[in-house]
Formats: sequence, structure tokens, C-alpha cells
Amino acid sequence: MNQNPHADRIFVAIDTTDLERAISLCRPLGGIVGGIKIGKEFFVAHGPQGVRRLCEASKLPLFLDLKFHDIPNTVAGAVRAALPLKPHIVNVHAAGGMAMMRAAAAAAAEAGADRPLVIGVTVLTSLDNDDLKAIGMVGSAAVQVQRLALLAREAGLDGVVCSPHEIAAVRAACGPGFKLVVPGIRPAGSAMGDQKRVLTPAEAVALGADVLVIGRPITAADEPARAARSVVAELAAA
Ligand code: C5P
Repeated sequence: MNQNPHADRIFVAIDTTDLERAISLCRPLGGIVGGIKIGKEFFVAHGPQGVRRLCEASKLPLFLDLKFHDIPNTVAGAVRAALPLKPHIVNVHAAGGMAMMRAAAAAAAEAGADRPLVIGVTVLTSLDNDDLKAIGMVGSAAVQVQRLALLAREAGLDGVVCSPHEIAAVRAACGPGFKLVVPGIRPAGSAMGDQKRVLTPAEAVALGADVLVIGRPITAADEPARAARSVVAELAAA
């Protein structure tokens, strides 16, 4: 990490199956942002060995975004299996329930002082209220996000993923110290892509976001390192 509080909270989403492209994206980000986020797309293609190569290229902390959701024993095993990669953050679906989240937190704790933060995924932002009704969920997405965030906190998780839209309500419900990891961030003037409800980095931090997940505004830029620096500058100026 580069000990710059503005920079350290930015994790860049490396969403590609192209190993060489991922390496060339990661290499210049070292010393500029706080970390890289690697999800299922890259992981399924290149596995732990590929993840190691990106960590070596960037020399940055890793957010392993595999969103585990299974029976407690299996999720604990998956978290344990991730520990040799020394991730800074791992995540699980909060809808997996209390026992599953507790098992994930206990497995992470086996790494001792170097343990990863375990973050709960609440409601995927691709689901709207009608989608939730169709799968039998009672109440709105906002209510469900709050319920799952409180459950995650009770289970001993370190925080949750939430949309920019939900930061204020989750912060109010869960209090300070509970980490809020927020995707759907768009620096001033950048393209929305498929994200609908977005905030700028400074707006998200002002509301209480701890970690900002930013993908295409950095990775699709002509010069990703320059785009990353400009996000850091935007945050520092706020
Ligand atoms: O390119 P962009 O900045 O939209 O990337 C956002 C990243 O955050 C992607 O890796 C995406 O999978 C992830 N994400 C999201 N919305 C969520 C959860 C994760 O956009 N609700």
C-alpha cells in the first residue's frame, strides 16, 4: 500500500479473461491505488496461479471477489483454500445465512494477524424489487439490504458490499467501523457503462464508503495509470 488514505481505498476491478491484458493493466497501478479486485471471470480462466501473477505484477493488496455461497463447511473450506493467496478482502453472500457467515469468518481467522477482511454481499444490484418478489423475497431491495447487513454484522463479518444508493442507510444501521465496499463508482465526466445508479468517488466517501471498487473508468481508459491518478486527485481535492 502507498499510505495515501485516498488512494488506499480504491480497488481496481480487473475483469478480463486475457492474462496478458490483465498483467499489463496491473503493472502500472502499483503505488497509485490501494489494490486490485479479481473476480470469477479472471479466476475461472486462470486460477490461483493467475491471481499470483497479477499480485506480483502490481505489488498491490488483493480483493478476491469470488462471492462464496454454499453450505457452511464448503464455504469455510473455500475461504481456507484462499488464504495462501494472502487476500486483503474475501467475500461471501450474506444470503447464505448466519452459520455460513460465521464459518467463513472463523476460517479467515485461522490466518491470524494477516487474516483477510470477510465482506458480505447483500442484494446484487442487478436485481430489482420485481426480481426479488419472483424469488419469494418479501419487502423491497432496500429493506433486504439492511436485514442482510445487520445479519452479517451479527455473524462477525467485517462489512458488506452495497450500492452507492445504499451507503447512508447501511452506515446508519450498522454504525462506524463496519466496512462498506462500494462498486458503481463513476469519476466526474466518465461513461456510465451498464451501471445505472452511480456516484462519484468523493460523493461515495462523503456518505461513508470505505472501499471504492472502480473498473472500466480506469481499465478502459487510454492510459489506466493516468485515469487512476486522476481519481486519487479528485478524492484528495474533495
Ligand atoms: O467497470 P465497473 O466500474 O462498473 O466495475 C464494477 C465492478 O464491481 C465489477 O467487477 C462488477 O462485477 C462489480 N460489482 C458491481 N455491482 C455489484 C457488485 C459488484 O458492479 N453490485
